[in-house]
Amino acid sequence: MSAARVLIIDDEPTLREVLGMVLGKAGYEVRDAPSGEAGLRVASQWFPDVVVTDLTMPGIDGLEVLRQIKARAAELGRDVQVVLITAYASTGTAVAAMKEGAFDYVAKPFDNDELRLVVARALAMRRLEAENERLHAALATKFQLGQLVGTSPAMQAVYALVRRIMGTRINCMVCGESGTGKELIARAIHFGSDRARGPFVAVNCGAIPEALVESELFGHVKGSFTGALRDKAGHFEAAAGGTLFLDEVGEMPLSAQVKALRALSERKIVRVGASEEVPVDVRIVAATNRDLAAEVAAGRFREDLYYRLNVVQIDMPPLRLRGDDVIVLAQHFIEKYAAEFGAPTRGATPEVQRLLRTWTYPGNVRELQNIIERAVAMEPGPLLSPASLPERLHGGLSPSVEEAAAEAFPDEGIDLDGRLANLERRYLEAALAAAGGNRTQAARLLGITFRSMRYRLVKLGLADDED
Ligand SMILES: Nc1ncnc2c1ncn2[C@@H]1O[C@H](COP(=O)(O)OP(=O)(O)OP(=O)(O)O)[C@@H](O)[C@H]1O
Ligand SMILES: [Mg+2]
Repeated sequence: MSAARVLIIDDEPTLREVLGMVLGKAGYEVRDAPSGEAGLRVASQWFPDVVVTDLTMPGIDGLEVLRQIKARAAELGRDVQVVLITAYASTGTAVAAMKEGAFDYVAKPFDNDELRLVVARALAMRRLEAENERLHAALATKFQLGQLVGTSPAMQAVYALVRRIMGTRINCMVCGESGTGKELIARAIHFGSDRARGPFVAVNCGAIPEALVESELFGHVKGSFTGALRDKAGHFEAAAGGTLFLDEVGEMPLSAQVKALRALSERKIVRVGASEEVPVDVRIVAATNRDLAAEVAAGRFREDLYYRLNVVQIDMPPLRLRGDDVIVLAQHFIEKYAAEFGAPTRGATPEVQRLLRTWTYPGNVRELQNIIERAVAMEPGPLLSPASLPERLHGGLSPSVEEAAAEAFPDEGIDLDGRLANLERRYLEAALAAAGGNRTQAARLLGITFRSMRYRLVKLGLADDED
């Protein structure tokens, strides 16, 4: 790595000389400039990593140098740290300058070690910020909306809605069954918004003990309850400038709901045990797998909070209503787990695809993901075979007929007769098992005649003509 670049800006020639020598000896590549104007010119060509500038100079002073250099660097997507040198009397200004983004200041007279240390720390900070930036970029890419797999009409509608509200600070509520991707959508909303650089704080409202909910969400001051050993910020404050994801929001106790409403309508919170309000700027994305409107009707969820949160409602379709997304997702997970396990699996046999399409996934995408993970781990060959799928998928029958009826239909249609025959066979078998093999009794359990029972058993190949 080439030496770090330090630009010294000072109107005093001796100081420039001394600083140049000290920092040059420390191994930095150093340039200097006798005025703010000259310094900015050098910086625009040479891109220093750290700028050490005098605060009081004729013409453009250190504060203005700081502003312009920071603004220019931000435009170019670069990072630069600025260290100010001040006369003792002007430290007040220096402190103000730090609020504008200066890294630190040294007061005159200073010794050389002090200066070397500040520059070294400024560079360390710059590396940290670059690393942070890189990690953030990786995270942001990982959680883009485009990373969601599936292009069914039901999901297209979700994507379109999310794109419309992404750039706004509108609060939204993501509703849907377990495992439909609610959290993934919440992250996509955050990382696609202008708050992406702020924090994404996820809170599972159902996982916090009721007694601690308020302190977790809004923070507390030392001594406000047993165990409050020091002041602590809550999740609302932690999410300032970013997005607060309130997962399982329907589980929030009523007392916390009152405070949450206040936080949303007045953008202020009060820590538990505190008297003063703290302003908070957060965007809320809430999620629930309950029917929250029904919770409101039952008096378990505040109506006013419901309307504050539910400005826009995003309904995640269950996987069984996403048609061929099942196959696309399965392929996606096959590739993911094959790579993870070093397995040879590349795809699935047509029979496996058929079985995957037929299942109705009460656990939605998470369930499919688990099925494929297990199957890839078990499959010795390049294509997933039916034997690697869990038992329940082989029935060819959905967990309940209501769910089966709501199932999406693939382009080529389904085999209704086959499915009904399957269903019939399972009922007959179950009734026979319950009746200990007695057909008369089994027929009674099914509400059919003995003759009808015998006819069906023969038709389905469960019994011979004669017996
Ligand atoms: N469209 C999708 N593409 C790829 N992976 C998905 C998709 N939807 C969901 N997943 C994956 O499925 C799993 C469940 O998703 P997620 O946790 O977002 O669901 P959820 O609705 O929040 O579930 P729960 O209600 O149980 O909290 C995660 O591993 C997620 O990465
Ligand atoms: Mg979730």
